[in-house]
Amino acid sequence: MTGRFITFEGIDGAGKSSQHAWAVAHLREKGFEVVSTREPGGTPLGEKLRGLLLSEPMHLETEALLMFAARREHIETVIRPALTRGAWVLSDRFTDASFAYQGGGRGLSLNKLRQLEDWVQGEGAHSLQPDRTFIFDLSVSEAQQRQQKRTGDTQVGADRFEQEKLDFHERVRAAYLERAREFPQRICVVDARQSMLEINKLLKNELASLC
Ligand code: TYD
Repeated sequence: MTGRFITFEGIDGAGKSSQHAWAVAHLREKGFEVVSTREPGGTPLGEKLRGLLLSEPMHLETEALLMFAARREHIETVIRPALTRGAWVLSDRFTDASFAYQGGGRGLSLNKLRQLEDWVQGEGAHSLQPDRTFIFDLSVSEAQQRQQKRTGDTQVGADRFEQEKLDFHERVRAAYLERAREFPQRICVVDARQSMLEINKLLKNELASLC
């Protein structure tokens, strides 16, 4: 595989989607073929699963299994083919989100998540992993203030995860930071309190180092 696989992560409201969109545009301007995608989703089947995952109440293991089912389809039909032809794949969330939300947030055992990861992404040297992951880190209160500004102080339209209480999001944030400690080579934690311009500059340098 010759392409690059980059993922964007963080608690809801930390700004990862804006930075993902910026990075896609930036790399396209530089002339790279870029596949802009997201999880859950990224394929027609995955988008249907996303609809269920964001709205339907379900057991936490069902939730984890559906996240990984959508991911299996995404890897098989979008991510691997793109990397094989040399494209950059920029995904708004990937497996670190499962460790953060289903593991940290919901309390699913990390062992079960690792088993699913091995099954869906392959084991050892054959494991599909991002080349670089950016975790946009912000306190939960600041992230929620940003979201309220966007949605006009209302929970209307909030999905099943966004509706969760503060302590859920605190656990998600802590689990993301734990992932960053576990994989310091791959994961770059970005202080999301910085201005958009400062973050763009940081991303530009990091992406240039992967070219
Ligand atoms: P998100 O990127 O936040 O969508 P939007 O910006 O449209 O709100 O993703 C939707 C939610 O899915 C998010 O709250 C986190 C959750 N999620 C998991 O719980 N586990 C996963 O493995 C993934 C990929 C996402």
